[in-house]
Amino acid sequence: MNIFSIGNTILEFEELGSTNDYALELAKKSEKTLENGLVVFTKNQTNGRGQRENNWLSEKDCNLTFSICLNQLSITVSESFYLSMAVAVALKNFLNELKIDAQIKWPNDILVNNKKIAGILIENSLKGNIVSQSIVGIGININQQHFEHLTATSVYNETQNKLDLKSALKQLLNCIEKELIKVSLKKYDLIKRDYLQYLIGFKKTQTYQANNEIFEAKINDIKSDGAIELELNDKSKKKFYFKEVSLVLNYEQGN
Ligand code: BTN
Repeated sequence: MNIFSIGNTILEFEELGSTNDYALELAKKSEKTLENGLVVFTKNQTNGRGQRENNWLSEKDCNLTFSICLNQLSITVSESFYLSMAVAVALKNFLNELKIDAQIKWPNDILVNNKKIAGILIENSLKGNIVSQSIVGIGININQQHFEHLTATSVYNETQNKLDLKSALKQLLNCIEKELIKVSLKKYDLIKRDYLQYLIGFKKTQTYQANNEIFEAKINDIKSDGAIELELNDKSKKKFYFKEVSLVLNYEQGN
């Protein structure tokens, strides 16, 4: 029997502001009875939220925007970045199945040729040191062809194949379930190994920006708290947290 199942119940809505907001609200109302792995899905998300207080824009009926409610992972706060890594690896594996060569940009953006194809927004609730609930929000561009930002892409733009959204969702949920089982079994080394393998700039020189400074560095390690450890040209090592440093991407290369 599966120790952990994702998407046994999928609540589908014609339209929602944000699937994360809906899932958070649902979790608040029915904390005790909320089914682990329940998915909230809409083909028309009108007020999607991204990281760094950004919006997540998604054209109606084109893409997957959904949130997974997790309340049985039993991870501690210091282990929570493994959840983020696992979901990023699952998205990469899903795209691999579609023959799309994606990479992960720290902490958890999914890019193809430097263009963003998917994003992850995980919102955790804590009970002391334990993550009692995680809402894992995922937006992945599937059939959308035109984007406001030239730095975005979709499965269609990469393959010229249109996908049935419901089947794509099921396939993606399978990939996610496989990785979440590893989280629940605390197979953190395996998750980190795959994450680092797919991570842009791991042991490879890239350009970064921090504190108005541009510099070259290699990712030397990712710490369990999610911090990135960069090795600078002079071999010194520096740790950065999310929002403290950003990778400078060259879009010409990606075209
Ligand atoms: C990012 O900034 O890269 C994260 C984007 C996350 C978007 C998804 S779409 C489904 C879920 N609901 C939201 O409001 N946001 C997430």
